[in-house]
Amino acid sequence: MKQVPVPLQEARRFQNSDRLTEQAIHACTRLGREIAWENLSTLDLDPERILQSRIVTIDRSDPAHAPFDMMRTRVLQNLRQNNWTSVAITSPTPACGKSLVALNLAFSLAHQKDCRTLLIDLNLKQPAIGEMLGVKASASMEAFLRGDAATHNLFLRYGDNLAIGTNHQPVPFSAELLQSLETARVLQDLQQKLEPDVILFDMPSMLFNDDVTAFLPTVDCAILVAAAESSTLDEVDECERYLSERTQVLGTVLNRCRYTCNQ
Ligand SMILES: Nc1ncnc2c1ncn2[C@@H]1O[C@H](COP(=O)(O)OP(=O)(O)OP(=O)(O)O)[C@@H](O)[C@H]1O
Ligand SMILES: [Mg+2]
Repeated sequence: MKQVPVPLQEARRFQNSDRLTEQAIHACTRLGREIAWENLSTLDLDPERILQSRIVTIDRSDPAHAPFDMMRTRVLQNLRQNNWTSVAITSPTPACGKSLVALNLAFSLAHQKDCRTLLIDLNLKQPAIGEMLGVKASASMEAFLRGDAATHNLFLRYGDNLAIGTNHQPVPFSAELLQSLETARVLQDLQQKLEPDVILFDMPSMLFNDDVTAFLPTVDCAILVAAAESSTLDEVDECERYLSERTQVLGTVLNRCRYTCNQ
């Protein structure tokens, strides 16, 4: 039998131990992520509240869930193809349905078991996600973004693969917090810790404040939600143009349509 030279044997030993070290690091990272998700308190939902808030993608008995599932699949494909994770959801003016779209998209994504999703209420001017779900976290979003509150004090876990960060306290001069280095660092830490495939940021509207402008450099892409019968074409055009100059626009959702295509 041919004798393997000693230096080659040594090199192989190192190669094997490198591979083992790499595998051990991967296993530790995976374990760390599982523990971080496991540590989040569970989100208990009141079916009445869910109905009132028009969240239709949990039990999917209302046919209105279908467009959200279609949006979910398109968003997921786009993110995977481009290796993107974070999506800002905004609108030209208030009350176009951003939070409703964000919540329905998040719960639709939760049915996709191989995908971990975070939904974060970054409408620091008028937070609504907690109210719509009927829950209140023990920490405020401001404390979390300043690095003064732990992930498990803000995020609640729905099932194994959706975590939602709510807020109950509006933040004055919120654009300054959104574009601070501290916020960027906290969100980066969060991403490393929970390793989500998708992060949905529910943002304020764009036309009358600078929050979205301040936060856009932090996200990979954006969805614009327009309200049929209240958003004007000029508003939608202006916002689409503005967003596309600063990030990738995944699409514009026409919400609050009274009629379906086959009517
Ligand atoms: N498709 C829809 N059908 C019926 N009602 C809707 C629809 N979308 C939103 N609404 C209602 O419109 C109101 C505003 O919706 P939502 O809070 O999601 O808007 P928003 O854009 O997040 O508002 P804000 O700018 O204050 O954050 C809510 O009462 C919501 O239930
Ligand atoms: Mg909202």
